Amino acid sequence: MNIVVFGGTGLIGRAFCRYALMNNHVPIIVSRNPDRFDIPYKKISYTDAGKPVLQRMLSDEYAVVNLTGAGIANKRWSKQRKKVLERSRIEMLERIEVFLQQAPQEPEVFVQASAIGFYGDKGDVNVDEDSTQGNNYLSWLTEEWESAFKEMSLEDTRKVIIRTGIVLTKDGGVLPKMLTAYNAFVGGPLGVGNQFLSWIHIEDEVRAIMHLIEDSYARGAFNLTAPVPVTMKHFAQTLGAILDKSSFFRVPAFLLKLLFGQMAQETMLTGAKVLPKRLMEHEFEFIFTDVDLALRNLLLKKQ
Ligand SMILES: NC(=O)c1ccc[n+]([C@@H]2O[C@H](COP(=O)([O-])OP(=O)(O)OC[C@H]3O[C@@H](n4cnc5c(N)ncnc54)[C@H](OP(=O)(O)O)[C@@H]3O)[C@@H](O)[C@H]2O)c1
Repeated sequence: MNIVVFGGTGLIGRAFCRYALMNNHVPIIVSRNPDRFDIPYKKISYTDAGKPVLQRMLSDEYAVVNLTGAGIANKRWSKQRKKVLERSRIEMLERIEVFLQQAPQEPEVFVQASAIGFYGDKGDVNVDEDSTQGNNYLSWLTEEWESAFKEMSLEDTRKVIIRTGIVLTKDGGVLPKMLTAYNAFVGGPLGVGNQFLSWIHIEDEVRAIMHLIEDSYARGAFNLTAPVPVTMKHFAQTLGAILDKSSFFRVPAFLLKLLFGQMAQETMLTGAKVLPKRLMEHEFEFIFTDVDLALRNLLLKKQ
C-alpha cells in the first residue's frame, strides 16, 4: 500500500519509512524541504499535492501517517518557542488537510502523532487511554493537537491517534544525550529519580504504527509505550550497568529548572506510568518489554 508520511524526514519517520519499505509498502514522504534529506524514499513537497504523478499514486487505497512537530524538549519554552510548538502541530494539520483535499480520494486510515504528555504528571498511578488529561502546558498542547485532528474533515477515514512515550533509539532523542553524560562520567538520574519514564524501543514504535494501519478495527487513541515503564532512577542504573559506567551523578532539579525552566519541569522532572492497554487489546506483540533488553539491543548490538 502507498503510505503518505508527513514528517517522514524525522527520527520516527525515517525508521518508519525503512520498516514500511521492508514490508512491501511504498512510503511517500511529504516535507517542507524534500531536497534537504539524503534518504532513498520518494520525497515530495506540500505544493506537489495536485501533480498528476501523486494523483495516480493516491487513486488506490492509501494510508497517511503524520509525524510532524517541532521538538518538544529541544529548547527552553519561551513564548516564541511555544508558538513554534503549537504552529508546527496545529497549523500543520490545516496544511495537511488542504493537501489531502487535492487527492482523488480520502485515505483509508490516518495515524496521527500525539504524546503521553497528554496525561501530565500522574506520579506512580497506572495510566491508560481512559485516564484523564493532565493540567500543564504539554497536556493542553497535546489536547489541542488531538482535537484539531479529530475535527479534520475526513468523513470516510479511520482515525488513529498514537500517544507515544520516550522513544529509545541511538539515532537521536534522549538516549544519545544520556550517553554523552555517561561518557563524561556524569551519568545518573535527573532530579530525585522517582518520576516514571514510559519508554518504547524504536522498533516497537514503528511496528505498532504499522499494526494500527493494518488493523481495520483500530480507531481512537492508543498509548505507544512498552508494557513495563520504569522510574528514572531504574533507567539510569540500568544504563550505567550496561555501559559499565557510574550512574550516581544526580542532576539536581533546581539546576535543570534554572537551565530549561518549565520545559525541564514538564518533560524531565515529572512523568506518568503509562500502559499500552489498547495496543495489547488489539493483540500487538512487543519485542522489547524489558528496558534492560531494549537498551542492550540498542547499545551492544553490532550494526
Ligand atoms: N521522539 C520521541 O521520543 C517522541 C515522543 C512522543 C511524541 N513524539 C512526537 O512524534 C512526532 C515525531 O517525532 P520525531 O522525534 O520523529 O520528530 P522530529 O524528528 O523532531 O521531527 C519530525 C518532523 O517534523 C517536521 N518539523 C520539524 N519542525 C517543524 C516546524 N517548526 N514546523 C513544521 N514541521 C516541523 C520536520 O519535517 P520536514 O522538515 O520534513 O517538514 C521533521 O522531520 C512529533 O510530533 C513528536 O512530538 C515523539
